[in-house]
Amino acid sequence: MNRQTTQTVAADAHGIAQAVAALRRGEPVAVPTETVYGLAAVAADGDAVARVYAAKGRPVFNPLIVHVADAAMAATLIDSGAIAAMLMARFWPGPLTLVLPLRAGAGVARLVTAGLPALAVRCPAHPVMQALIAAVGPLAAPSANASGRLSPTTAAHVAASLDGRIGLILDGGPCSAGIESTIVAVDGTRVALLRPGAVPAEALAISAAAAPGVTAPGQLASHYAPQQPVRLAAPTASADEFHIGFGPVAGDATLSATGDLIEAAARLFDLLHLAEASGAARIAVAPIPQHGLGAAIEDRLRRAAAAR
Ligand code: TXA
Ligand code: MG
Repeated sequence: MNRQTTQTVAADAHGIAQAVAALRRGEPVAVPTETVYGLAAVAADGDAVARVYAAKGRPVFNPLIVHVADAAMAATLIDSGAIAAMLMARFWPGPLTLVLPLRAGAGVARLVTAGLPALAVRCPAHPVMQALIAAVGPLAAPSANASGRLSPTTAAHVAASLDGRIGLILDGGPCSAGIESTIVAVDGTRVALLRPGAVPAEALAISAAAAPGVTAPGQLASHYAPQQPVRLAAPTASADEFHIGFGPVAGDATLSATGDLIEAAARLFDLLHLAEASGAARIAVAPIPQHGLGAAIEDRLRRAAAAR
């Protein structure tokens, strides 16, 4: 694809107006959310959605999450039963994505769902993203990184990954949660966790085991990957490793010196980006507990460490 000049602008009223104009022209825009930065396009605009796939180098079998203002906007796109309605009421706005049957005539570009009969919807708790949705309607947005690489939690991460491939980055500062949304599929009364994320599974009170036959096509074994090999559960590191610490393991930089999993989730991608840029030959990560947000952190680290 043609190289373009990538501009980063502050997410103030002027920047938001610039982003709205670009989205209306069908151009993808990188935008802040409370989880990670997204690469947004108007969900109804098939050409704009195709540009998102092209900019990321994303395989077209991997569908996108559509971001909505609230449950009422979601109801124009999907069919939600009692369980989904309950989850929306309890967790929206916030980092919970629900995969639900796509409504006939929803007006979502086919490429968004990659042809699947279900659509992933999420209501972001971020004023900038909400302002954009209010102006242009539902926004399809994957994380704003080149396909398979680390997710971005700052505008600088987006620029490092997509410079020259997109026109505009809206800089809203670092993302507060720092790890992607939890994804749950709801099929009648069956609920399945497709991706652990910023809402801990314990809070959802659903089983962590995915129901057979339901998957998120993007959850490939190798994903969220820095350039170097990654070694997990490492209380110590060798000289050629950048050591990411946690709790009592100080490392070269720590996810959380006090062992706070919320802080660790918020810092995870930033430290992986830092480790990647450090020039170290390899990356080692201290042991992380498995409860609460530890499950989502572990999921991302396992994919970062997977053979490619
Ligand atoms: O926090 C987040 O969810 C961020 C922000 C930008 O909202 N978005 C994000 O998008 O992480 P992405 O594209 O990087 O990851 C979305 C995941 C992929 O694994 C994809 O396969 C899955 O959601 N997914 C999307 N639509 C789906 C569908 N209809 N059925 C099953 N899985 C779906
Ligand atoms: Mg992603």
